[in-house]
This record gives sequence, structure tokens and C-alpha cells, in this order.
Amino acid sequence: MKSSKSKSYGVKSGKKVFEGYNDERKVKNRKEKVEKRLGYLDYSKDFKKKPNEVPKKYLNKIITADSLDLLKKLPDNCIDIVFTSPPYNFGLDYEGHNDTDQWKNYFGVLFEIFDECIRVTKHGGRIIINIQPLFSDYIPSHHMISNYFFQKGLIWKGEIMWEKNNYNCKYTAWGSWKSPSSPYLKYTWEFLEVFCKGNLKKAGDSKDIDITGDEFKKWVNAKWSIAPERDMKKYNHPAMFPIKLVERVLKLFSYENDVVLDPFNGAGTTTLVSHILNRNYIGIDTSVEYNKTAKKRIADHKKNNLF
Ligand SMILES: C[S@@+](CC[C@H](N)C(=O)[O-])C[C@H]1O[C@@H](n2cnc3c(N)ncnc32)[C@H](O)[C@@H]1O
Repeated sequence: MKSSKSKSYGVKSGKKVFEGYNDERKVKNRKEKVEKRLGYLDYSKDFKKKPNEVPKKYLNKIITADSLDLLKKLPDNCIDIVFTSPPYNFGLDYEGHNDTDQWKNYFGVLFEIFDECIRVTKHGGRIIINIQPLFSDYIPSHHMISNYFFQKGLIWKGEIMWEKNNYNCKYTAWGSWKSPSSPYLKYTWEFLEVFCKGNLKKAGDSKDIDITGDEFKKWVNAKWSIAPERDMKKYNHPAMFPIKLVERVLKLFSYENDVVLDPFNGAGTTTLVSHILNRNYIGIDTSVEYNKTAKKRIADHKKNNLF
């Protein structure tokens, strides 16, 4: 008879695995139980299904405007995927944007823009928000934003932890040093909250899939280790996406030829990567300077790839 120790592990397809794993993990009558609980069906809303085209004058454009005004000009159901990172209200030095507002005002404005994002997203489309809570203010922005979309009837598809590998961990405060009175928790990661409108499945043509098997296997693990953008000084923007982050999001959650919207486009990483990956895009930012940078990044890419 095997000892209990030797019974615990076995080798499957060349890998060491816990033998009791499948038995332990298996939920009996899983399907019936899911059906009983109703899952997201009890919370999600029925949205209109008919898709619309983006008017030509806005397609593949980087637009200087307040997103709340501009999005109102777009028809319902015309965007395949929204990927964005709003200002976090951390007090960063953006051109023309006050990043230190009272939280209630901040969320008030943000949620009005999110309402428009929901309206313009197609049935089956996705909305993905990159956010980091401001721990020093004890405001869980990632939960508040998720809760907002959930209340609006979107389906919460999941959450990705973007591990920045400590690059961003500049602060040294300990809170109550060496005392349980109020220790300060430190974080090296941000969140990506992923929502679907009306359907978990996104329709698309299989010829428009550009993710490889290896990428898929790696990226469905929801902890992504990606270093932050190093060239923010060069582009004169304080809070840019790294290109790799946008590449993963677009390949995992959208098809080629889809329409991508970033309502807080900044120096235009979302629009640049959309262009590179054969997606259509709309990028909106209030700053003329950031939009110049965003346009130049696409123009430079076109120039360098001529031959
Ligand atoms: C976190 S940054 C986005 C950076 C972007 N992901 C990139 O890779 O460069 C947020 C941007 O939102 C812009 N912004 C703030 N309020 C806005 C509004 N109401 N409409 C459009 N853009 C706005 C700011 O100018 C800033 O560039």
C-alpha cells in the first residue's frame, strides 16, 4: 500500500500533478447548480441587438474633445471594444485636466462617460477598464467602477491583475511602523476589469483571429507581468499604457477589423496598437498636445513600415 505522502502526487504528461486534484476540484452536478443560482443572468440586462456603423468622419481618427460631448455624437451599438485607462484622480500633472477632485465629483463625471461607453458598445462587445485604487485615500475605485457596470446590467467577465513588478512602488511610508495600529499596505499591480454587453460571446469571423495558441495559453492566466512604459518622458505624458498591455487586450478580446474606442486616449497607445494590429480605432482626449503625440506615433509607424 502507498503511503499517504506517495499517494498525493503522480506524473501526468511528463508533469508532476496532485493525484487527488480532479476529485477534489470536481463539483457534483455543477451545471444544475449553476442553473439554480442563475449566475449573471439574474443581473444582466437585455440590450438592443442591432449594430450600427461608426460615421466615417469619426473612424480611425484621434479627436480633441471632452469624451462626454463627443460620445453623444456616436450612434448606439457601433463599437466592438472599449479599452481605456481613465485619470485615477491621483493628482498627476495632466495637460488641462484637474486630477485632484473630490471623489464624488470624480466618479460623477466618470460614470456619465461610462454610460455613453455602454450605449455605444455593440451587443456582445467588451468594455475593459484599467484602474488602480488610491490606497492612501482608502477609495476602492476598482470595486466602485466594477459595481457601476454590474448595476448597469453588464456581465462581469473577470479581472486581470497587471503586475508591474514593483516599478511603480516609489513610496516608502509604512503607516504605523512595526505596529498593528495602522500598517500601510503596498501594491505593485493595477487591475483590468473586463465587462461584456449582453453576451459573453463576441461574434466574429475566424479569419480575423490573430492570437496564437501560445499567446492564448499564456494570456488566459489572469496575472500579467508587464513592465510599465519607460518612454513617458519622451512622449510627455505621465501615465501611459505599455504597448504589450494593449496588444494582449486587443488580441485576446477582439478580432481584426473591429472598432476599438479609447475615450481617454492620452498619448495614444490604444490607437497606435489598434493601427498596428489591423483594428479600426477612435481615440478621444481633451489635450491638443497629447493628441498631436498620438497622431505622430501612428504616422511614424506608417513611415517606418513603408519598405
Ligand atoms: C491615464 S491617461 C490615458 C493614457 C493612455 N492610456 C496612454 O497610453 O497614453 C488619461 C487621459 O484622459 C484624458 N482626459 C481626462 N478627462 C477627459 C475627458 N473628459 N475626455 C477626454 N479625455 C479626458 C487626460 O488628458 C489623459 O490624457
